[in-house]
Amino acid sequence: MCGIVGFVGNGVIPGRLLQGLQRLEYRGYDSAGMALCTEDSHLHILRRVGKLANLKNDTPEFLETIHSPIRGGIAHTRWATHGKPSEANAHPHLSQNGTIAVVHNGIIENYQTLKDQLIRQGFEFKSETDTEVLAHLIEYHYQGNLFSAVLSALHLVEGTYGIAVLNALEPNVLVAARKSSPLVVGLATEGNYVASDMVAMVQETQRVIHLDDYDVVLLSEDPPVITNLKNRIREYEVSTVDFHLDDVSKGNFEHFMLKEIHEQPDTIRNATRGRMDYETGNAKLNGLGCTAYDIAQIRHVTIVACGTSRYAGLVGEYLIETLAGITVDVEYASEFRYRNPVIMPGTVVLAISQSGETADTLAALMEAKLKGATVFGIVNSVSSAIAREAGRGIYLHAGPEISVASTKAFTSQVMVLTLLGLLLGRSSRHSLTEGQNLIREIEALPEKIEYILKNERPKIYQAAQYLKDFENVFYIGRSFNYPVALEGALKLKEISYIHAEGYESAELKHGPIALLDSRKPVLAIMSNQAGYEKIVGSVKEVMARDAPVICLGTEGNTTLSQYSPYVLSIPECPELLSPVLNTVVLQLLAYEVAVAKGLSVDQPRNLAKSVTVE
Ligand code: M6R
Repeated sequence: MCGIVGFVGNGVIPGRLLQGLQRLEYRGYDSAGMALCTEDSHLHILRRVGKLANLKNDTPEFLETIHSPIRGGIAHTRWATHGKPSEANAHPHLSQNGTIAVVHNGIIENYQTLKDQLIRQGFEFKSETDTEVLAHLIEYHYQGNLFSAVLSALHLVEGTYGIAVLNALEPNVLVAARKSSPLVVGLATEGNYVASDMVAMVQETQRVIHLDDYDVVLLSEDPPVITNLKNRIREYEVSTVDFHLDDVSKGNFEHFMLKEIHEQPDTIRNATRGRMDYETGNAKLNGLGCTAYDIAQIRHVTIVACGTSRYAGLVGEYLIETLAGITVDVEYASEFRYRNPVIMPGTVVLAISQSGETADTLAALMEAKLKGATVFGIVNSVSSAIAREAGRGIYLHAGPEISVASTKAFTSQVMVLTLLGLLLGRSSRHSLTEGQNLIREIEALPEKIEYILKNERPKIYQAAQYLKDFENVFYIGRSFNYPVALEGALKLKEISYIHAEGYESAELKHGPIALLDSRKPVLAIMSNQAGYEKIVGSVKEVMARDAPVICLGTEGNTTLSQYSPYVLSIPECPELLSPVLNTVVLQLLAYEVAVAKGLSVDQPRNLAKSVTVE
């Protein structure tokens, strides 16, 4: 949601912080700020509303006012929860006497109670945020040791937090802590980092310590000390992460979204590599930690996820039911937790999440565990909260996804669900030959995506020029491609701000058709599939209401031009794999519309990459 980076040690600390924030900006971009602690025991704060560029522009002038060596710094990029984007609400927040500075991700749920108590003690609040409570609370408990003061303050706090704290009186020290909000420590040659995501420090170090919930860490130039909230020191491992600068830069692409769309042939290969065995016509998903017997015991699958990940789950429903004959239901993670779900014996709960941080999905996963379900994570971010809470599962291996609109993660999620369908299917009703045929088709998929990326762009561009001036667009699809209609519509609304809705095509006539007229184009997913004629029927109903049509079909289908001058296509492929190809086209379409409208593609308004609040 928001991004945190902090550093203690030597070198150009403001430069390190700004570079870190630059890489974290995709997580939130309402406002940004930094606090620097100097050797002469002063804190210096700069905060700016809007994108990071505003903070960057004013940094040189700000630094001219600092005349003592800088020993430590913390910085933050914000996605507003409590209080509007403003300089007063931007982080870092200072305590009453100006000695404590705090940056914070998460929500302090009992902040109003704490605020009232602090006000009674004479503290004055300058912002509308929950975070400011932490700064005052730490000052209130400070008795010459920042670490102890943070521990005491956190004992009183309910909610979630990833925090980094500086104290003017201890300029060589930074204290950080986490609960349900990611935080990682990085060991560099000139000092130590803390960040909400390791992308913030990848340029400087790949040696990291993953913090657990309730960890409190003391950073200085010496090796970090980690304790729990009871001040018990814990051992930790330093891991070397395989993460490179190229993974988090745009390369030759104009936007991260376009780069990530183009990465999909490789991300599909990565999601399936080493996980298919042609000899047995089966999938190998070692991360599930299941024997063939365990797999054969699965009677029902429940999928919990949000947004795009949930739509991947809906494709998974069709895939698993078709391939394995096992019933699947797909839940909004946000609802699952609160509606007291029934978990029957033999149920497996899959939590799907790109970031691995989504608060609703994490909470749903915990609820499922509490009710005794076997849980698996389908996650992109390694060692993220959901991956760790699930304990077992399947990583996507898609690499960092920086664009706020999810693209490559979706197609990898669908691929992983296809492999799961294959595994479940082979343990029940699928023959060796059927398994082998599916593996062959999966292996052919990356080249088909490459073909789309190479050949479809001009037609997609034309369709985008046509769509960009409309205010409403409908997407329709059936069966495996019904969730694709939902995902296509979500992509368009997220980055082009055009109102778009996805419908199961037959459902249109049960209400939504009332909305159709010449100003409401309908994008119909018409690739070769069972029930194709029924979709044609829906398209004819649309045309009869004067609504313009855009077709997305299978290459070689010459009949589509009778429905629309805009015909987009995918190469021939089995219906159950067509969601991946159709989605790539719809991602590009949304992208071209947003570019044509001159919008901020990678950082659309009001959104943030990972939603770590409920
Ligand atoms: O990180 P997650 O996959 O758990 O995120 C879930 C949704 O917040 C996410 O997919 C969101 O819908 C994206 N902005 C879609 O582009």
